[in-house]
Amino acid sequence: MYTRINIKTPDDWHLHLRDAEMLKAVIGYTSFHFARAIIMPNLVPPVVTTADASAYRERIMAAKPKADFFKPLMTLYLTEESDGDDIVAGFRDGLITAVKLYPAGATTNSASGVRDIEKVMPVLEKMAAAGVPLCVHGEVTDPEVDIFDREAVFIDRVLAPLRNRLPELRIVMEHVTTEDGVSFVESGGTGIAATITVHHLMINRNAILAGGIRPHYYCLPVAKREKHRSALRTAATSGSEKFFLGTDSAPHTDAAKLQPCGCAGCFTAPNALACLAQVFEQEQKLGNLEKFASLNGPAFYGLPPNESTISLVRQPEPVKFPDKIQTGAGEVTVFDPGMPVYWNIEKG
Ligand code: DOR
Ligand code: ZN
Repeated sequence: MYTRINIKTPDDWHLHLRDAEMLKAVIGYTSFHFARAIIMPNLVPPVVTTADASAYRERIMAAKPKADFFKPLMTLYLTEESDGDDIVAGFRDGLITAVKLYPAGATTNSASGVRDIEKVMPVLEKMAAAGVPLCVHGEVTDPEVDIFDREAVFIDRVLAPLRNRLPELRIVMEHVTTEDGVSFVESGGTGIAATITVHHLMINRNAILAGGIRPHYYCLPVAKREKHRSALRTAATSGSEKFFLGTDSAPHTDAAKLQPCGCAGCFTAPNALACLAQVFEQEQKLGNLEKFASLNGPAFYGLPPNESTISLVRQPEPVKFPDKIQTGAGEVTVFDPGMPVYWNIEKG
């Protein structure tokens, strides 16, 4: 049995850091555990231009604990008015790492997203030619489509046709939640990969709805039935280079979550890695943890893995995580894995 595992420092390939007081309160949890993170651009207003990304990057670096090495990998929010030349220039300068496609209305702060994919085809063509990866929130927003089917329908209506039309475009299907998504990515050639969150590996939809409604487990894409969680666990722990960690840690204040119409998002930054180690232990795949958390992501993005290492150390008793953190914007509840987690993270 493993009691200590040393792995190259992980990266988080999908993260919400927010801004202002929330940014200051949450960034240290990520910069303690991760060397790099893909920073989601869904601020209000969104990060659309390279000038926006440059300013946001400065605010992140100013908020980061001084002692931590941390490199934010910036993304731009794709709108129907996005400037393809600005995107390509930002990518060539190393300022941005990817562009994010939110279908308009799909999730938190996505009102400026894409309504009609035809309108962004010229930009996507420029991105494909320049090698700029596209990160996709893969859900349709058609009100007639059941919320539990929105990912599968997005694959049929949008993603598969886009892959056929522009096979050179590198795509990351973000926070994949279904076996349909896993199969699509597995059979999709080298230009497509997927991130998987820790919470989608740990909960199914019963956690949200059975025995009472639990808003802190509500996120988008919403957790699906058990067979889907099982497919995600198999994919994440398989070692396949097509799957890597993107926590989608998405802090909202309790005041914003605990509403008649509460926000989507699970705040997992403080315990994501410990929970992930628990999942890999349960699946008897701890030997593949480094691939999922530290190697597959950089390989897809064409970056070197981190040189530093961290240790995951198994404790005799379950580890206690804080229930909540205090922020200048209000209290934020930390993800409750709903099962004992025995792993602690040590740096260096
Ligand atoms: O649950 C989610 N929260 N899903 C998203 O896609 C966005 C995120 C957020 O920004 O809160
Ligand atoms: Zn997200």
